[in-house]
Amino acid sequence: MSGENPYIEQPKAQRPEKSFQVRFLPADVVAEVTPENWPDGGDGLPGSLLQIAQASGLHVDHACGGVCACATCHIIIREGSSSLPESLEAEEDMLDSAPGLTLDSRLSCQAIPDGSCDLVVEVPSWNRNLVSEDEA
Ligand code: FES
Repeated sequence: MSGENPYIEQPKAQRPEKSFQVRFLPADVVAEVTPENWPDGGDGLPGSLLQIAQASGLHVDHACGGVCACATCHIIIREGSSSLPESLEAEEDMLDSAPGLTLDSRLSCQAIPDGSCDLVVEVPSWNRNLVSEDEA
């Protein structure tokens, strides 16, 4: 299972018009996203932080395949939340089941940066043992 969930409203994604960076903590993996390499395949919505992480060799757990049905892809936006659309009801409902919920929590499979600024994203500590970084 991957891509869009046909049973829920989809966030309005805006494909970036310029390059931006996403720094994933604590691994300190930096993803360079350009309009040309904008991820559009695999699990999660096209251009989502989950897809950006995967394209950078960073595995973020995503048990439901990125269709907003599990909350295992929970991340915390430390900087750059203004470049993300508001979370929709389906994402909020799933986040309610995530451990350690914060005001800056999002589901990485649903959060799609518009490229208007760089982001810093934290993978929560309870997920870190489920996260593996590919060695370059
Ligand atoms: Fe299941 Fe994001 S991967 S909600």
